[in-house]
Amino acid sequence: MAHKITLIPGDGIGPEVTQATVRILEATGVKFEWETFMAGAEAFEKYHEYIPKELTESIERTHVGLKGPVTTPIGGGFASINVALRQKFELYANFRPIRNLPHIPTRYPDVDLIIVRENTESLYSGLEHEVVPGVVESLKIITEKASTRIARFAFEYARKNNRKKIHAIHKANIMKLSDGLFLRCARAVAKDYPEITYGEHIVDNTCMQLVMNPYQYDMLVMENLYGDIISDLCAAFVGGLGFVPSANLGDHCAIFEAVHGSAPDIAGKNLANPTAILRSSLLMLRHLGEYDAALKIRNALENVYRTRDKLTRDVGGKAGTSEFADFIIEAMESGSGAQATESSHA
Ligand code: NAI
Repeated sequence: MAHKITLIPGDGIGPEVTQATVRILEATGVKFEWETFMAGAEAFEKYHEYIPKELTESIERTHVGLKGPVTTPIGGGFASINVALRQKFELYANFRPIRNLPHIPTRYPDVDLIIVRENTESLYSGLEHEVVPGVVESLKIITEKASTRIARFAFEYARKNNRKKIHAIHKANIMKLSDGLFLRCARAVAKDYPEITYGEHIVDNTCMQLVMNPYQYDMLVMENLYGDIISDLCAAFVGGLGFVPSANLGDHCAIFEAVHGSAPDIAGKNLANPTAILRSSLLMLRHLGEYDAALKIRNALENVYRTRDKLTRDVGGKAGTSEFADFIIEAMESGSGAQATESSHA
């Protein structure tokens, strides 16, 4: 039976990187039925809605989305489509595995870290107002429900995937009530998982510790704002935002997306690197239970990354977006790259 997936190609380089990914996914032999929708400014022109009703209905039906980047105007216009979709479908867990690829120069080899970020509250609740002219207030919302839910998500993942250690990241020394509640929830959940080592680090120290020695961590769980910042910091360990996958997961729906933007400077030129969304699609395959297909693509991707010429220009290669996809499909078909081993994530 074909997997029904809601596809949001996005704009800028979005359609190019999603098309390359769809071709690679289909070459695995897994059957998909794509329901394709626009979002953002493009959708507004056609439907007078930034997130068309048809798109949300499709996600309600398929429960799974694959999304390319969407341009967000700065300082006006519509709010982020990503934030809106996360809130609408209660995609409370942002999951980002951080792993190196061959040939991407980085400060640290063999990084294997997982960042779990609470996606629905903290300072991203959008509760801001002007108290008096010249004074504004942003409300940081932390609830027992969301903090317990994200901690449970992290520990369950660790248990199922044989991860050894989770650190809760906080600033409870200053925000005693809000981050204090987050920590109390994480500690309570940790008690149910005695086989997983639980630790707590203050967020500013964590940034320093990560840069000094990322290997001391295994999984990190944190509220929204710290997660936003730390997940980008950790992306730099493996070459930047162009290489890290991302999944937004809820109890009923999941949306998989690249974390880089729509790159208007190179859009439409067959120059974009589809690695981030391709790696996100591996998380999607695993979510769908298609473990063999995920492993097949992962092996092919790592194999292609061993040959510099086959890479896109942003990483020193000569290939265009579509040629890069061709190389991955060739590597899958020839079965080369079987040297990579099974792992629990992309
Ligand atoms: P960006 O990530 O689009 O571009 C930054 C630089 O990285 C550019 O030089 C670009 O050419 C390069 N780049 C990005 N992705 C690449 C890829 N796959 N292959 C090769 N080069 C790549 O960030 P920027 O310029 O800040 O944002 C552009 C637009 O994207 C903005 O409207 C922003 O709001 C939106 N955006 C959307 C996101 C999403 O939908 N997930 C996430 C981040 C930004």
